[in-house]
This record gives sequence, C-alpha cells and structure tokens, in this order.
Amino acid sequence: MRHIKVFDTTLRDGEQSPGCSMNLEEKVQVALQLEKLGVDVMEAGFAIASPGDFEAVKTVAEKVKNSTVASLARALPKDIDRAWEAVKNANSPRIHTFLATSDIHMQYKLKKTPEQVLEQATEMVKYASKYCSNVEFSAEDASRSNKDFLCKVFESVIHAGANVINIPDTVGYTTPDEFYEMITYIKNNVSNIHKADISIHCHNDLGLGVANSLAAVRAGATQIECTINGIGERAGNAALEEIVMALETRKDFYQAQTGIQTTEIYPTSRLITSVTGSLIQANKAIVGANAFAHESGIHQHGMLANKSTYEIMTPESIGLTENKMVLGKHSGRHAFEDRLINLGYQLTKEEIDDAFKAFKLLADKKKTVTDKDIEALAGEKQVHT
Ligand code: KIV
Ligand code: ZN
Repeated sequence: MRHIKVFDTTLRDGEQSPGCSMNLEEKVQVALQLEKLGVDVMEAGFAIASPGDFEAVKTVAEKVKNSTVASLARALPKDIDRAWEAVKNANSPRIHTFLATSDIHMQYKLKKTPEQVLEQATEMVKYASKYCSNVEFSAEDASRSNKDFLCKVFESVIHAGANVINIPDTVGYTTPDEFYEMITYIKNNVSNIHKADISIHCHNDLGLGVANSLAAVRAGATQIECTINGIGERAGNAALEEIVMALETRKDFYQAQTGIQTTEIYPTSRLITSVTGSLIQANKAIVGANAFAHESGIHQHGMLANKSTYEIMTPESIGLTENKMVLGKHSGRHAFEDRLINLGYQLTKEEIDDAFKAFKLLADKKKTVTDKDIEALAGEKQVHT
C-alpha cells in the first residue's frame, strides 16, 4: 500500500470562499480538530495577507504538534520572510511558495517572460530553503501550462531545495484522463522528481475536483491538497472526506491509503459547518444529511437483511453512530415493523396490517413520518413492553 499524504487547506484556500472567514479562536479550534483527524499537513493561512492571518498562522503553528504547519507565500522575499516568521515555532514548519506558470497568467497577470518566471521560482525556493528544510513550490495554473516548461520549472526548483512540487488545477479546468497524463508526463520528464513529493491541488469548477485528485493518485501523486466539505474559491476545492473515503472504500483498486482517522470526518465536517455557517446540501457525498439515509422499501428491506446490500461504507466509519432509515411513502412493511419493535411495540399480524395501512395513508400526506407519528398509529393497538 502506498501512503498518500493529506494536505488540508481549509484554513487557507477554504477560508478564501465567500463568507467563510474565521476568527483566531475559530481557526485554532479547527486546527486542533484537523490534527485529531490526522492530516499530515495543514495550511494555516497566508501570513502576509493581514495581521490577523499572521497571528492565526503563528498561533496554530505553536499549538499543533502532530501535523506539519504551512503558510502560503508568493514567490517574493517579503512574503517568504513573513511566512517563516509565522511558522518558525512549529514542531514541523513548511513554507509553501507559489508562482504562476501558464502563458495566460505569465502574460496578463505577472507580465513576465517564461525565463523570468523560471528564474524567480528558482531563486525564491533557494531563499526559502535558507530558513526551512521543508519547502513546497506550487506552479499556479499548472494544468493550463506548457508541459515542457512546467517540467523545467519543477526540475529547477527541486534542484534549488523544494521537497514538494505541487501541480494545481487552479481554475478547475482539467479532466481525470488529461490530469492522469499530465502527472505521468511530469514523473517521466523531471529527472530529479524522486527527491520530491508530487502534490496535486484540484478545484471543482467542473465538479471534477475529487475525480481529478484520484486520477492523479493513480498516476503517482503522493500528496493531495483538499478542504473539509470542499469549501474554497468559487465552486470550491476537492473535498477531503470524499477523496479519503474513496481511497478507503476502494483500497483494492488504488492500493493506497491515507493516515486519516476516518471516524473524525463527521465531527470535523460539522465543526466547519458551524464555524463558517456554510451549509452543505443534503445529498452531499459522505457528510450530507441523506448520505446514509434509506427510504425506499426495497432498499430498507435489503438493509435490514444485510447492510452491505446498499451501503458501501458504514456510517460508523466516518463517525456517525448509525444509518438512518427514513420512513416515508416509499418505505415497506419490513422497515415499518422493525421501527415498531425498536419503539417497544408488540403487535399481532392483523394489528400491524392495520397500522401499516394507516402509515401509508399518512406518508402520502407528509414528507417523512416521525417516530411520534408511528407511536400515535400503533398506540391504540399496542401491548407495550
Ligand atoms: O489554486 C491554486 O493554484 C492555489 C495555489 C496557491 C496552490 O491555491
Ligand atoms: Zn487553490
């Protein structure tokens, strides 16, 4: 089994999502929960962005003991100085510096030639390496960059001291097949690639962030960057819980695993929801309210016989105590009878038949039937235990 490192950027890229900013106390609370979750690296913020961000990165760096703590920095001396100042007291600090490599970013945003970008990236990684032995370089907009230029930049920054090279799909433009080919190309054409972790960082503009991340793992990526609940710029980043549970559930296929304590996934997701106020949709994979809910009679019947009929992972594995059998108009007699027993009722076959008919009539009028409704239906006929 290959070990895939998890780099969580909820506190940096996640926080960049509109309305998701967190105060110092909240950031520390989230950082300690991410440590409990077992992330290998957490990006605590962008130290130069504001005095508040600097303070937050510094405090997180001082409190977290078991995860590497990184600060983002543009490839500029003043940013790198500030990032180092913020993370230097961490048990395991990292400076994460970045520069764009796509033609469109170099021409319109940076107004620099590829040669100038190559030189700046190399010099700034050298500069950061004087402070810290753990330096990550991100080629912003890598997925829209010329592959040979990208390889040249990565080879040069690894030579300058980078021990992680990151390949971001900054605008969520790539697709799984294309990204697989890109990672394979980089692996085969950067001569010193064995000296660095190959990291990927996917955004979700086409809804492909998780699929692209998994394709990259297959191609040989050793670090994935992601956020809790997939929060992040625009359509967000690849969701940590989805990548981790995909690798966990399909270990047989990927032959790879993370060090994530999966039972902390649900509590971490809830914490992010409450701290940011950013709600997740009910049918969101892994952590949505309906992710482990079953309503249809056929499914409920199967679940009662053997949970693996309709569940590919257990709710317990992500820290939920049980799956939810939702009683509604699609539910069948098996689930209804099971709920009666769980509520403490012992009814005869005829009584159950009557109560089940009444339940179906009620279910046609209500979206879901609650335990209180069932108690009312069974109440008159019960021999309560
Ligand atoms: O999306 C991106 O390119 C980034 C980099 C700074 C890593 O967030
Ligand atoms: Zn990003």
